[in-house]
Amino acid sequence: MNYNKKTVRDVEVAGKKVLLRCDFNVPQDKETGEITSDKRIVAALPTIRYLLDNGAAVIACSHLGKPVATFESYVKKQVEKGKDASSVKKEDWEKSLKKLTLAPVAKRLSELLGQEVIFASDVVGEDAQAKAAALQPGQILLLENTRFEKGETKNDPELAKAMASMADLYVSDAFGAVHRAHASTAGVAAYLPAVSGFLIQKELEFLGGAIANPKRPLVAILGGSKVSSKIGVINNLLEIADTIIIGGGMAYTFSAAMGGKVGNSLLEADWMDYSKDMIEKAKTKGVKLLLPVDTVCADAFAPDANSQVVKAGEIPDGWEGLDIGPETVALYCEAVADAGTVIWNGPMGVFEFPAFAKGTEAVAEALSKTSAITIIGGGDSAAAVEQLGYADKMTHISTGGGASLEFLEGKELPGVACLLDAE
Ligand code: 3PG
Repeated sequence: MNYNKKTVRDVEVAGKKVLLRCDFNVPQDKETGEITSDKRIVAALPTIRYLLDNGAAVIACSHLGKPVATFESYVKKQVEKGKDASSVKKEDWEKSLKKLTLAPVAKRLSELLGQEVIFASDVVGEDAQAKAAALQPGQILLLENTRFEKGETKNDPELAKAMASMADLYVSDAFGAVHRAHASTAGVAAYLPAVSGFLIQKELEFLGGAIANPKRPLVAILGGSKVSSKIGVINNLLEIADTIIIGGGMAYTFSAAMGGKVGNSLLEADWMDYSKDMIEKAKTKGVKLLLPVDTVCADAFAPDANSQVVKAGEIPDGWEGLDIGPETVALYCEAVADAGTVIWNGPMGVFEFPAFAKGTEAVAEALSKTSAITIIGGGDSAAAVEQLGYADKMTHISTGGGASLEFLEGKELPGVACLLDAE
């Protein structure tokens, strides 16, 4: 995939109406609806400011959550959950949509920008069309949640065309959603010149650079609970990386595949053969595959469980591995110290429990000290680095969870592929 895409700087934006796809899929308090982290809104500001300062009128759009766009589908979903179709009320569906309005995002964006953000109560309806038509250079309009339109997730060309008809240029800055082939993330690019904003440009530069032309040795640290969710990443990185480090829950499937005892640890028995194949493949390819040599195990999955350190593959019955042990920490930190590039995706243990966060903390600290280019895949590892206060020590923390994972899998990302290639 070509990661070298045209950006907002490569096109004339003055006097243009720009449809700007952002990822404003922000976390909200379940009760009050209050935005609990505005990081994704803040991440979109450089592109928005650039467009406004350079004389564009910005029509911003985004999805929020996973609303069910029609009452018919809502009924179907409730029936799947075991409800009787006749008991499903239209007002409950409407309430579920109201919770996912982008109105609070418009308010927060307006506070951050220090100017009014006009809000449209629909995506391509009368309100959006009228407000987009009246929009002046330097003004910004935010459309309602794109997933309120049933054509959005189906990448309906009619919806894409309707969105495109309001603008002269499409800019995507929604890195978190580039793995989705939806009308607003990809379809619309068929009807407008399409370029990237600064956030996507930065993600492509770092993630793309690490994959396509890494400073070596390239060390990939993979953690998280399931081997099954990282298969694509491991496969792809076996072609690229010099060293792959495995931690987190998925290490126990590898350990069991090598005949180790894993007690009550997380185990995906169906993936043991695959794990064995990966160990063999790494040998054939000359990739160093590092697995834990010791484990911190506990007698329960609880923050205050009793714990002990045992050798990997020797977890007693009734105990479960919740973190990598101190010898493993030393081994992994050493591998990171002389790396040229480090990509990290997934925690080393149950870092939500302080007693089992040491492995993840130590890796984060090692990354903060190495002179290597350090790239943190989104999701849990990004949260861990931020929670531990190392965020500003990393070269790049991706804003995409699913998107950065698919990037590392080497998949073509529809929201990137649709953008114009740079010359
Ligand atoms: C995310 O939060 O990872 C992105 O906004 C994508 O959201 P989605 O998984 O609902 O498509």
